[in-house]
Order: sequence, then structure tokens, then C-alpha cells
Amino acid sequence: MSRSRRGQRSKQGKKDPFAIRAKKENYPSRASYKLIDIQNRFKLIREGDRVLELGSSPGGWTKVALESGAKRIVAIDPNPMSLKDGRVVFLRSRMEDCLESLNESFDTVLSDSSPSTSGCHSLDQARSIDLGENALKYCELYLKRGGNLVVKVFQGDLYPEFFEEMKEKFRSAKGYSPKASKTRSSEIYVIGKSFKGSSLYLQ
Ligand SMILES: C[S@@+](CC[C@H](N)C(=O)[O-])C[C@H]1O[C@@H](n2cnc3c(N)ncnc32)[C@H](O)[C@@H]1O
Repeated sequence: MSRSRRGQRSKQGKKDPFAIRAKKENYPSRASYKLIDIQNRFKLIREGDRVLELGSSPGGWTKVALESGAKRIVAIDPNPMSLKDGRVVFLRSRMEDCLESLNESFDTVLSDSSPSTSGCHSLDQARSIDLGENALKYCELYLKRGGNLVVKVFQGDLYPEFFEEMKEKFRSAKGYSPKASKTRSSEIYVIGKSFKGSSLYLQ
């Protein structure tokens, strides 16, 4: 990233009310407020849940999931996590590389993963949908029947097909834009409630 773009970003960050609030309230990222909003509205995470989190760095959602009652979180990201907690197991890896290496089932899957953006929307969207498809593969392997998923994807040509897939796999599926999503962003959070399939490994 060029110095001027970085400068521009940090200026924006200084004015961003969610970034200011995150600093003040000691959340690792402004993204925390997206999950707080989603959780208040959809009650995805339940007391005592085992949660799988894809794209977890630096740990904003992880902190919110713990505050929402998660008793165990397996978090995966190639970037480091600032949050440390005895209930969290962090795998520093791309999600594609540990798809088959877990050996437990989960009540809720969270994915806030984003590809590094190139500026070419169709390419970025395709990469984001790939990450969303991977989140669905994790659900097929590890999510309990009746479990919930929230997955971020970028909207565009490939989105309707992805949304149809969500509708097939969950009793209800809904796209939601949390207040903390930036107005210019094409991101949408798809909420799948009550997974129809059963995880192939464990219940
Ligand atoms: C918006 S950030 C997540 C912020 C996080 N939810 C929080 O509240 O702190 C998106 C994350 O997706 C991760 N990511 C991108 N590609 C990934 C992949 N293939 N597997 C796992 N994580 C990935 C990035 O490293 C980045 O940390």
C-alpha cells in the first residue's frame, strides 16, 4: 500500500466512530460492532456454544463470541491474533489448509474472512465467494444439525447462487448489513439459522 493511501486510511480511521469506540471499549477491531449488531438481532451464539471462527484476526469477533456465552472457540486465520484466552484455540493458517484436520463438532460457525482486495471487483467478489464456499464446506463437516452460520461475502454476480445454496442448507437464510459496515462496501453478512444437514464427523 502506498504511503498516501495508508495516510488516507489512518485519517479515515481517526474519524470512524466505530474505530474510536473499539479503542475506547477495548475491542481488538471495529468489526466487533458488526457481530454485536448481528448477535443482538439474530441470537446466533447461544450460552455454552462451541464456536468455529474463520478469518478471526485480530480477535474482535472472538471477544464478542466469548461475551455472548461461547465456551470454546477454534479460530483460524493466517494473520496473528491479539486476543488471548484459555477458551480459544488459535490455528494460524488459511482455512483451506485445515479443512479436514479438526476433530470436533460445533454449534455455530462464524466467518468474517475477506480476501486481500485487488481493486478489481469481479476478482475480489470471486475470491470472497470462494471463502464463503469454504465456510459452507466447514459446516458440512463440522456444524451440528440445528447449528447457525454467519458468513460475509461481497455482493455481485455470484451472490444469488451463493444465497440459494444457503437457503438449501439452512431452515432460514437472510442477508444483513450491520450498521458498522461501511456505506460504500459491497459486503453482506448471510445469516443461516438451523443447519439442515448433519456434520459428517461428530454430533
Ligand atoms: C475483516 S478481517 C476479520 C476481522 C475479525 N472478524 C475481527 O473482528 O477482528 C478478515 C480476516 O480474514 C482473514 N482471511 C483472509 N483469507 C483467509 C483464509 N483463506 N483463511 C482464513 N482467514 C482468511 C484475513 O487474514 C483477515 O484477518
